Formats: sequence, structure tokens, C-alpha cells
Amino acid sequence: MVFKELAAFGGKKKPSQRDLAEAVLKAIHTMGFVRHFKEKDIPQDVLDMVLEAGTKAPSAGNHQPWEFIVVREEGLKKHIQEASFEEDWMIYAPVYVVVCINTKIAATTFGERGEKLYGIQDTAAAAENMLLAAHSLGLGVSWVGGFSEPQVKTLLECPEFIRPAAILLLGWPAEEPELHPRHPLSQVSHYERFGNNEQFKRSNPRERRYSH
Ligand SMILES: Cc1cc2nc3c(=O)[nH]c(=O)nc-3n(C[C@H](O)[C@H](O)[C@H](O)COP(=O)(O)O)c2cc1C
Repeated sequence: MVFKELAAFGGKKKPSQRDLAEAVLKAIHTMGFVRHFKEKDIPQDVLDMVLEAGTKAPSAGNHQPWEFIVVREEGLKKHIQEASFEEDWMIYAPVYVVVCINTKIAATTFGERGEKLYGIQDTAAAAENMLLAAHSLGLGVSWVGGFSEPQVKTLLECPEFIRPAAILLLGWPAEEPELHPRHPLSQVSHYERFGNNEQFKRSNPRERRYSH
């Protein structure tokens, strides 16, 4: 089974450069968020591969200040959905992974900067790793950041130093993800100095505002 081979992959078999680039770039370019999921659970071995990918993210000082809370219980998912500023669609995802920042660990060594900045960056990197891994395994994914942090914290019985930062929704997709356009590279890449790009040079300084 392909999943077993992948699980065993664990860095043992070195892929060719071309295979690696193709797999990674394809996953990045085709991932979009879905809101419709099939009524089908995610086997634990598949979920483990997703969570494992999260643990491979980089983190400041390699502190790994993340905690992943897996929620499958329908009642609890419903409460989390109610604590989120989202519609009913959330409930149809069979698995939520609530990515939390362990602020105690994040503050180790780097103090306030660790807690307020690196902790967020580290957990965002872990979240993106998990989303890309899930997408590559054929799962549909979504990211919900709009929720009441105190409510979700209480629901998940998090101690004071555990901060829920993102809710990842995982399930087998019942729709193709919609891919939304991004600002063109020519608009967001700068060389050597801010503003040193073709887009800026050509445009009227008064119009140098990004439309959304
Ligand atoms: C930090 C963060 C928070 C987000 N919060 C929500 C959310 O609360 N609800 C939602 O529907 N989508 C949320 N999203 C998804 C974005 O809206 C989505 O990435 C954006 O619309 C682009 O869509 P695409 O990634 O499918 O191309 C969030 C994404 C990020 C990175």
C-alpha cells in the first residue's frame, strides 16, 4: 500500500532531485482549501503521517513549541465550531487538529521575542507542513484562525501557557479545492532594497498600493 511505503520513507530512501521537486512543487501549487468533506473517517496511520510532518517543521533554537490537539468527538467539534466565526461547514470535517503554541517553551532562551514572534512562526510552519502533507495524501484541508481563543482554550482544557493558534480541518474532499489567485511575484519580490522591482519602477508612486 502506498501509504505504508510512504510511512517507511522517513528519510531512508533518497528520492531523485527531480522526483522531490515535482512532488513538493506540485503539492504547493495545487493545495487549496475545501469546505465539503465526505462522511469518511481518516485512518490513524494516515493522520500520523500528517502530524509527523508537523513535527518536522523548523523552529527557533529547535525549541519545537507546538502541541497538536486532535479532535474527532462530534460534540466537542460542534462546540469548537460554535466558538469559531464560521458556518456549519466546519462540522463536516471528521478531524480537527488544533495547533497550539506552548508559550513556556517558546519563551525559553528568546524571552518575549520567542513567545510573541517565534512561537507563532514555528507553529505556522508546522501547520503548513501538516496541510501540505495532508493534501499530498489526498485529504481535503482548511485552516480556521477565526475563533474565540478563550472559548477554545476552555473547551480543550488547555493550561494557561497553551495558546490555540490555528484549527486545521482534515477530511476526504467532496469537492475540488478552489485555487484563489495570488499577488504576482513581480509585485511582492524586491531585490537588494525595498521598492526595487519592475512593478514599483513602472507605477506612479501615488498608486503604489496593493489592491486586495
Ligand atoms: C492565519 C490564517 C487564518 C485563516 N482563518 C480562516 C478562517 O477563520 N476561516 C476561513 O474560512 N478561512 C481561513 N483561512 C483561509 C484563508 O482565508 C485562505 O487561505 C485564503 O482565502 C486563500 O484561499 P486558498 O488558500 O484556498 O487559496 C485562514 C488562513 C490563514 C493562513
